Amino acid sequence: MAAMDTILCHALFGVAFVITLFIYLGSTSATEASNGGFSVKLVHRNSPKSPFYNPSKASTSKPQSPVQANNGQYLMKLSLGNPQFDLYGIADTGSDLLWAQCVPCEGCYKQIKPKFDPNKSSTYSDLPCDAPECSLVPNSCSTQNVCNYDYEYGDGSVVRGVLAKETIFLESTSGNGTVALKGITFGCGHNDTGVFNQDDMGLIGLGGGPISFISQMAPLVGGKKFSYCLVPFHTDPSIESKMSFGKGSEVLGEGVVTVPLVPKDDTFYSVTVEGFSVGDKFVPFDSSGKVEKGNIFLDSGTPPTYIPTDLYERLVAELGKQIPMAPIKDDPDLGNQLCYKTKTNLKGPILTVHFEGGTNVKLTSTQTFIPPKDEVFCFAMIGDDSGVNIYGNFAQTNFLIGMDLEKRVVSFKSTDCVKD
Ligand SMILES: *[C@@H]1O[C@H](CO)[C@@H](O)[C@H](O)[C@H]1NC(C)=O
Ligand SMILES: *[C@@H]1O[C@H](CO)[C@@H](O)[C@H](O)[C@H]1NC(C)=O
Repeated sequence: MAAMDTILCHALFGVAFVITLFIYLGSTSATEASNGGFSVKLVHRNSPKSPFYNPSKASTSKPQSPVQANNGQYLMKLSLGNPQFDLYGIADTGSDLLWAQCVPCEGCYKQIKPKFDPNKSSTYSDLPCDAPECSLVPNSCSTQNVCNYDYEYGDGSVVRGVLAKETIFLESTSGNGTVALKGITFGCGHNDTGVFNQDDMGLIGLGGGPISFISQMAPLVGGKKFSYCLVPFHTDPSIESKMSFGKGSEVLGEGVVTVPLVPKDDTFYSVTVEGFSVGDKFVPFDSSGKVEKGNIFLDSGTPPTYIPTDLYERLVAELGKQIPMAPIKDDPDLGNQLCYKTKTNLKGPILTVHFEGGTNVKLTSTQTFIPPKDEVFCFAMIGDDSGVNIYGNFAQTNFLIGMDLEKRVVSFKSTDCVKD
């Protein structure tokens, strides 16, 4: 528990915890999803060219991945190689590269579970320097003509290794079925440093760029889209929710709020937020009233929400007025965060996020106040003037969130992710 709380303090106090790629890669033509459709592909499942095998109930089977809460991050499970190796990697919609720590790993952070051994997998192959995928990552060429990547995140974490191809297996909604995705480009990490914890076996880049897991699997699963439901922070890791991919992963039904994705950057899921309401009081994003298109992006790999300091201060002032308790003033651990001491979950006002076009989602205190230690609840946003605004994973919990890169929308549906 101590490690978890230390990491949360890092998260809340803005110390190096942004798992987001800030190296802007040159825009390269994205692998577009063929509209083959998942069910059509399955008809040909016996063909040696088919990326799928063993789908037991073909017509209803959809690829999915279990997701669990871990230290402010979310770990998703997939399997790698032949024989299959289970990988629990950070689910990160704020970056593209999928990587796993591999042996040998001398310069790597400590990991409890065994690391992937490429020598033991019959389907693993290194990528040469002239492979087109190599140009999609910051790279260097080894003397053996192998493509090495060198990938840096917003929090200063750096991961290095060999770019390779491998077969990746996902679960299928049909139960015992498995979906095989052949020839997925991933990073075999041999030198990884930064803000990772010992349960992280790697990271799964779910951004929109050409090298992301989502873009690579799109032609194989009937579309460049996926959906996920993040359980609240501190939920027992044995409770898993699901991430679904491709055709059939759309978020539909009553109570769905749909917001346009702003095409600003290949990787990021940017949306436009006009302001927030604290209870009934509207607080504009920019006090001038001006709204910049795509002013924030959704990142499952960053716990708190990062907004400009001026906006943060106006929200904190309004929360202070509406919460009938005195905030904690004298705890140096908490810095100048807005925190309250209470035995039970803090009952603060609803925080409404106003998106462009008049749509909105309502956040309750479990999505906006996070306990960094016992009986203390702190506002889970950070004032930050780097110009990069991030809609973090605390604020995304208990919504079924669908990213559809074909329709260019993100959908929110209020959901109890522990039950559903
Ligand atoms: C990891 O990479 C850094 C930076 O290039 C290098 O200084 C260090 O020696 C590497 N560690 C190992 C074990 O290769
Ligand atoms: C993997 O195989 C290569 C080539 O045979 C060898 O050089 C390397 O040491 C092996 N790595 C491990 C971790 O066993």
